[in-house]
Amino acid sequence: MTTATGTSAVTGAVGTAHTRVEGLAKVTGAARYAGEIPFAEMAHGWLVLSTIARGRISAIEEDAVLAMPGVLKVLHHGNAPRVDTDYTGLLGRPDPTIAVFQNDCVPYLGWPVALVVAETSEQAREAAEALVVRYEEEPHDVVFAAGRPGTYTPDGSAAEKGDVEAELAASEFVVDAEYTTPEEHHTMLEPHAAMARWEDGRLEVVDSNQSTMWVAGELANLFSLDPSSVRVRSEHVGGGFGSKGVRVHQVCAVMATTAIHRPVRVVLTRRQMFSLTGYRSPTAQRVRLGADPDGRLRAFAHESQNLTSTVHEFVEPSATVGRVMYDADAHHTVNRVVRLDVPTPTFMRAPGEAPGSFAMECALDELAEQAGIDPIALRVRNEPDVGPLSGLPFSSRNVLSCFEEGARRFGWADRDPRPGVRRDGRWLLGTGMAAAAFPSNALPSTASVTAEADGTFTVRINAADIGTGARTAITQIAADALRVSPDRVRTRIADSDFGPAGIAGGSMGTRSWGWAVTVAADELRERLALGGTVPPEGITVRSDTTEAVGALAKKERHSFGAQFAEVAVDVATGEVRVRRMLGIFAAGRIINPLTARSQLVGGMIWGLSMALHEEAVRDAASGGHVSPDLAGYHFAANADVPVIEADWVDDVDPDDPVGIKGVGEIGIVGAAAAIANAVWHATGVRHRHLPIRPDRVL
Ligand code: MOS
Repeated sequence: MTTATGTSAVTGAVGTAHTRVEGLAKVTGAARYAGEIPFAEMAHGWLVLSTIARGRISAIEEDAVLAMPGVLKVLHHGNAPRVDTDYTGLLGRPDPTIAVFQNDCVPYLGWPVALVVAETSEQAREAAEALVVRYEEEPHDVVFAAGRPGTYTPDGSAAEKGDVEAELAASEFVVDAEYTTPEEHHTMLEPHAAMARWEDGRLEVVDSNQSTMWVAGELANLFSLDPSSVRVRSEHVGGGFGSKGVRVHQVCAVMATTAIHRPVRVVLTRRQMFSLTGYRSPTAQRVRLGADPDGRLRAFAHESQNLTSTVHEFVEPSATVGRVMYDADAHHTVNRVVRLDVPTPTFMRAPGEAPGSFAMECALDELAEQAGIDPIALRVRNEPDVGPLSGLPFSSRNVLSCFEEGARRFGWADRDPRPGVRRDGRWLLGTGMAAAAFPSNALPSTASVTAEADGTFTVRINAADIGTGARTAITQIAADALRVSPDRVRTRIADSDFGPAGIAGGSMGTRSWGWAVTVAADELRERLALGGTVPPEGITVRSDTTEAVGALAKKERHSFGAQFAEVAVDVATGEVRVRRMLGIFAAGRIINPLTARSQLVGGMIWGLSMALHEEAVRDAASGGHVSPDLAGYHFAANADVPVIEADWVDDVDPDDPVGIKGVGEIGIVGAAAAIANAVWHATGVRHRHLPIRPDRVL
C-alpha cells in the first residue's frame, strides 16, 4: 500500500536472500577497483624494498635511474616530505613503519627504501628494479620460538581469578599441552592500491580499504593536514580481512603527488604484500586444564606468545577467547610478545580467536578423551551463567542451541568415541567438533537518508563493502525501516565526505551502519507519513549513533557457534582430506541469508586452510620469506572444500535496533580445532602444530 510520499507496508527485506546490489557491475567489469580507475595525467609509483633484514642505507644511486625512460622522480629518505607519527589515531598510536622514507634505518627485509615514479607503471618497475641501493648490514634475528629470550608481558594482557596451581593439583584430570600456529597471510584477491592527487587544495585518495574515515584520519595526522582537507574513497574492495587500513602505498602515493604535482598511483605486487601489508603472527600457546571426575573445570590456564616488530607492539590476543567461553574455579590467561626484526603483524580475521580457539578447543578435546566424556557434554558441563571473569550477564548466549542443532544435523549421536578404528580403504575416518565465540560490538556512526522527488531513496553512509555484501545489507535494512522495496533504495558508501562511520572490521560493520541507517530512515519515514510533497532537492534526515552506542549497558556481548568436521586420513601418504564441515551459529539477526552464509562458509574454509595448508616460512639466514607468493603460500582451493554448510539458530540481539550481532569473523573460530580433533579421532594421534602437513601426519 503506497502513500502519496512513497512509503508502504513492511517489506520483509531483512532476513530475505538478496543478491548483491552491485553484483551486475562486478560480473560485467563495470565495477572498477582502485588499481584500475583512470585519472588524467596520472604517474605511477613502484616501490623498492630492502634486501637486508637490519641495518642502514648507505647510498641510493638515483642518478642512473633518473636518466631512464619516463622516470620522473626517485623518492627516498634524503628527499621525501617529513611526516608526524606522534599522534593517537582511530586505533591508537600508529605503527611507525607506515612512515616511510624518514631515515636511513632498515628494520626488516622488504622495508620500503625508495619509490620510483614514472609515466607508466612498466617504466617505474624497470627503473625500480635497476636502482642500486647500498647498505651497512647489521645482524638480525627473526627466529620465533616459545619462551625465547626477550619475551615480555604487555600491560593489561593478563586476566586471572583464583589459584590455578592449587586447582590443578586438586584435579582428577589434567591436560597440559603446547600448540603452535605459523605465520599466516591475508592474501586477499585484490592487492593494495591507491591513487593520490591534490584537487582544489584538498588531498584526494582513491584507495582499497576497510574504512575511508580511518585512512583519511591517519593521512591527515601523518601529513599534519586539516581533516576536512582530506577525502578518501574506496568504492569496491576485493577483500581486506584486517589488512586494509593505512599502509605504505597510500603514504608514498601522497608523498609522490606532493612532490610532482600530478596524480600518482601506487599498486603493490603480491610479493611486496608479504612484507608491507601485515600478517598474522605465529603463536606458541600452552593450555592447562584441570577437571573433577565429572569433567567440571577447576582450572583453566591459557598462555599465548606472538611476535611483533622492533618498532611497534601488536598483540595477537590468542589467550583471550577462554575468558568468555568456559567457567572454572581458577582462571588464568595471558598474551605475551617478543620483538624481532620482522614487519609488524596486524589484525587478520578473528585476531586472537582464530589461533586461540585452535589451542583451547583442542585442549578441551584432549580433556574429553582423558575423562571419557563426550566432547559436547564436556562443554555443556562447563557452560557459564555469566562472564567467567567479568561476572557480567550475556546479552544472549545460545551456544547450547548451536551444539544441539549441530549435533542433530551432523549425526553426532551415533559417534563412536574410540580413535583410529574406522576405515574406508586406505583412509582412516574421524569426526571432531569445537565451540566458537567472537565479540559483538558496535561503533558510533553517522548516516543520511534522502527521500528523492522521484519516489526513490538515497542512503549515504561511510561504510566499506570489502566483499561481505555490506552494501546490500544496508540497502535491505534501509528498505525495511522505510517500508519500501529494496529496489527503490540506492546505497552510496565508502566516501569520507559522508562523515564518520564504523570500520569494516571487528565484525562490527553491518551492526554499526545498520543502526545509524535505521535511526535516520525511521525518522524520515515518520516525517513522510505527515504528508506533503517532496521538494526537488529531496528531504534528507541525518543520524548519529554516538550517544546511543555509548549508552549500551555493560554486558558480555558475543556471537557463538559450534563447528563440526569429518576427515579422512591417508595412512600411506599422510594426506588429510576434509569430507564435510558443518557450522551452526548464534550470531544475531541475519540480514541477508545469502551473503551471511557466504561469509560464514568463507570463514570455515579459511579454518580448513589454516588447519591443513597455510604457513609462511621465514628464512633465518636472510630474514625474509621462502616463496612469498601464491605458489609458495598454500591455501585451500575448490578441490579442498567438500560438503560445507553454515546455518544459524534464532538469536536476535536484544539491545540492537535491528537485532544484529555480526557474522564477520566467527566462521573461522573453532574450525581448525574441529578438523584437528577429527584427525585425532581418525588416527589416535594429536596434532598440536599447524598446519597438519602430510610429513607431520606420517
Ligand atoms: Mo577484521 S581482522 O577486524 O578485518
